[in-house]
Amino acid sequence: MAKPPLSMTPTGWFQVAWSDEIAVGAVHRMKYFGQEMIAWRADSGQLTVMNAYCEHLGAHLGFGGSVVGEVLQCPFHGWQWNQQGRNVCIPYEDRPNRGRRITTYPVVERNSSVYIWHDIDGREPFFDAPDVFASFEDGSSEADYYPQQRLFEQGHEMHPQYVLENGVDFAHFKYVHGTPINPIFTRHDFDEPVSYVDFTITFEGDDGQRIEDVSSGVEAINGGLGIAVTKSWGMIDNRTISAITPVDDCTSDVRFMVYIGRTPGKETERAAARAEEFGLEVIRQFRQDIHIWAHQRYSDPPALAQSEYQGFTAIRQWALQFYPDGKGGSAAALKAAEAR
Ligand code: FES
Ligand SMILES: [Fe+2]
Repeated sequence: MAKPPLSMTPTGWFQVAWSDEIAVGAVHRMKYFGQEMIAWRADSGQLTVMNAYCEHLGAHLGFGGSVVGEVLQCPFHGWQWNQQGRNVCIPYEDRPNRGRRITTYPVVERNSSVYIWHDIDGREPFFDAPDVFASFEDGSSEADYYPQQRLFEQGHEMHPQYVLENGVDFAHFKYVHGTPINPIFTRHDFDEPVSYVDFTITFEGDDGQRIEDVSSGVEAINGGLGIAVTKSWGMIDNRTISAITPVDDCTSDVRFMVYIGRTPGKETERAAARAEEFGLEVIRQFRQDIHIWAHQRYSDPPALAQSEYQGFTAIRQWALQFYPDGKGGSAAALKAAEAR
């Protein structure tokens, strides 16, 4: 295993939890981007994600902090902090400390996920987290699909960019996922922070068929490096979300979600069971990728085949905008990687 030479503090939206893990009144602990963080849900349902330590004397708010209406109360001396991270009450003083603030993160809850905006320079979000239904602008919604199925793996030595590069990597499908022939890309659009990749692919038939005759495929939307959503066509209707979030300098948490489409009028128990089975199959295929990513060493510059050059160059160029130094890693880290 190898530490990624790419920065593990990229900018963008990243999944830190699922919404149903944080009930009203709950305080949820987590660690991402090298920071101890908490997520807490106020009585109104509003979710706040902030750094975990109280600005008073440093208690960890995830160990005994309590939600009081719309604010969070520290277990140590009872100071209260609001959803903007501001101190609003010191119980034994007339007024709060207006100067101190706990760092909070912009949050969206979407497709049952909790996404935070991370930017080490504190810039506001400059793109939207993708939605596995709305972003495809096809009128679809969660109601058209069976319940979300999930995979959650923690602490893999991998970088979010590995997962996105999968989206331009036509040659791996045959070897990692056992497709009979290579898919072909029909769209590579890397003009904006939200990028689009479409490809024609089949998992059926033998290697005698021509990709030009295949009538099934996948559309993918990448919202920065942290979240990618996909939609299938011409095959069992499925949507997926992959979300990779750096935990520290070496490891990331991997979340993957799949929805299988309902067939109106055919919603038997048997159909639901088949959908669940198919969802598990999609998850199994994603695990095949994880098995590679979790042990791979980022290759830079890679030894690309002629036919791979354009896709990989485009996605790596696009990825640079999300790195603090605009280079995807420190010069030292890149050198160290080269020397290995
Ligand atoms: S450390 Fe939080 S109130 Fe004192
Ligand atoms: Fe893959």
